[in-house]
Amino acid sequence: MEKILIIDDEMSPRESMRMVLKDKYSVSTAAGALDGLSMMSESPVDLVLLDIKMPKMDGITALQEIKKKHPDTEVVLLTAYASLETARDAIRFGAFDYILKPFDKDDILQVIEKGLARRRSSAGLKMERDILLDRASFLEKQIDEARSNIMMCYEGTVNALILTIDAKDHYTYNHSRRVAELSSSIAAALGVPKKTIKEIEQAAAIHDIGKIGIDENILRKNAHLTSEEAEEIKRHPVIGARIVQSVPFLEDAIPVILYHHERYDGKGYPEGIAGEKIPLSARIVIVADAVDAMMSARPYRNALFIEKVLKELGENAGTQFDPDVVNILLSSRVSLV
Ligand SMILES: [Fe+2]
Repeated sequence: MEKILIIDDEMSPRESMRMVLKDKYSVSTAAGALDGLSMMSESPVDLVLLDIKMPKMDGITALQEIKKKHPDTEVVLLTAYASLETARDAIRFGAFDYILKPFDKDDILQVIEKGLARRRSSAGLKMERDILLDRASFLEKQIDEARSNIMMCYEGTVNALILTIDAKDHYTYNHSRRVAELSSSIAAALGVPKKTIKEIEQAAAIHDIGKIGIDENILRKNAHLTSEEAEEIKRHPVIGARIVQSVPFLEDAIPVILYHHERYDGKGYPEGIAGEKIPLSARIVIVADAVDAMMSARPYRNALFIEKVLKELGENAGTQFDPDVVNILLSSRVSLV
């Protein structure tokens, strides 16, 4: 049963209204606004019938208090003809409607029923909104979980690819990982945004993925390569890009995979593009790959050897390598030790 509170300082209208409503609703009464408000704070009601002219606290002040504390409770004002204008004005404070005294029984029932209908629909909307909010936060949690699962799959896939490349190629274990780390340090020293650094690091780790499609005997051959064999090896950037094209979350790695053998002077492969036409990510990885290849040739790394690596980089800056990327290493902004 819906709850109605009648607040009126005069007993006669208060009681006669209660008689009209008591069979249909759960009705309580208060002889003043302060009493009514304290009753509501203990037990909220669905609708308040509120007299305007009362001592201590008048109905308009009480209306504003009710709306502040119980915004969903509907309020119907009770007014004598003299306060009609006030009652009309009070609608802007959130009153649902007003009833003119002396009241008509049918009239009052009709207004109350309309007020309760509005209360029901706003309560329904509130419930629907709460359900939607719950659902949204549940979905957000699921998306977070799915995202971290995808990241785990991604990292697993990348790791498997790295191990496959290193196992097939003649490079020592962890070559790809070291190229990835060095590329990331160079990118950071160049001031590349964080998200891009991560992309470059991941792309660098699988830059040689295309070697999966190259004959192992050629990859591992120690003797001089014939020109056919050299041409065969040169296919690995294109093969790699094709492999990665079919994996949506590896798409960002394509420029590095495809262009990591392009030279700054345009004499590289597969396309022979030059300078800034080579994506920065690829220009970084070319240098990191060359550094690690030179360093891997020696089981120990003394200072003299690092000096030799840096000399080699300096001599090839502007021809094989992007001079800006080489400068990052020459200026010791990235340590090779
Ligand atoms: Fe390569």
